[in-house]
Amino acid sequence: MSTNPEMSSAAGVATPGRSGSVAPDSPLLSISGLSIDYLGERTVHAVANVSLQLGRGEIIGLAGESGCGKSTLAYGINQLLVPPAVITEGGVTFHDRSGDDIDVLALEDKELRRYRWNKVSMVFQGAMNSLNPVISVRAQLNDVFATHRPQMSKAERRLRSGELLELVGVDPKRLDSYAHELSGGMRQRVMIAMALALDPELMIMDEPTTALDVVVQRDILLEITRLREELGFAVIFITHDLPLLLEISDRIAIMRHGRIVEMASAEEIFFAAQDPYTRQLLRSFPSLTGERGDFIRHGAQLENEEVR
Ligand SMILES: Nc1ncnc2c1ncn2[C@@H]1O[C@H](COP(=O)(O)OP(=O)(O)O)[C@@H](O)[C@H]1O
Ligand SMILES: [Mg+2]
Repeated sequence: MSTNPEMSSAAGVATPGRSGSVAPDSPLLSISGLSIDYLGERTVHAVANVSLQLGRGEIIGLAGESGCGKSTLAYGINQLLVPPAVITEGGVTFHDRSGDDIDVLALEDKELRRYRWNKVSMVFQGAMNSLNPVISVRAQLNDVFATHRPQMSKAERRLRSGELLELVGVDPKRLDSYAHELSGGMRQRVMIAMALALDPELMIMDEPTTALDVVVQRDILLEITRLREELGFAVIFITHDLPLLLEISDRIAIMRHGRIVEMASAEEIFFAAQDPYTRQLLRSFPSLTGERGDFIRHGAQLENEEVR
């Protein structure tokens, strides 16, 4: 599949420099010097001085082993941290499509709620299990609209709900289904439909597909890249699965011990990683070594490859 230079320019994102620090043409989110601690007897510096700029419509992959701080960073961007987590330094600015700059860490209450679903939506790890089991898909989408779009009529909600399911490749008939009647892949697609319900500018996905089998996982990822082309939202996609990221990301940030050790285009990461840790991470995926790594350039079918 096409990644990287072509997709970057299609999304209006500047080709980044080796450090990935080159500002995108049209920034959507700027994280500057962000540090997050978990306070306790032994304070954990979970995120340490992280800076990055995400372009409008860009897909950034965030990779790194378990415990390196990926989720903490994602929660920080969305102001979802709760004690004992504290932001000790830095800032997060959201460059809204209206032209306003939003100081995310200063948001409270109503503004914060508006920022969360409308501007930035999040699909969590294990999200497929977080659908409410006792109400239908339609009722859950209705809840989102009732809270955030109270002016929408019943007919508009109905129409939009159907549209959303179609968008993520689920038959709109499924609106009347309950979670247990859907496969894991379908549930995950419904969660993505919910995340897209209010047309956000950024979707943060924290290991959203790890519980799914490889083929289903890949279908969903391809769907997300297609949707981003169609709708223009940006994505921060978090996973420890580097091969998947190489396929879908414009740029990749490699995180270790709370820091971003390298950030570059997916191709640069694959062909010319600079940081020893990045190289070590690449080596830990046997399918990426040797000629089989060709899938990045030629779109070979991952289904037939061992990616895990
Ligand atoms: N609520 C918490 N209290 C204390 N430490 C935490 C808490 N949540 C996460 N941590 C620690 O912060 C670090 C980063 O965790 P996390 O952001 O979940 O990493 P990742 O998502 O990359 O697996 C880890 O060392 C983890 O143990
Ligand atoms: Mg995590």
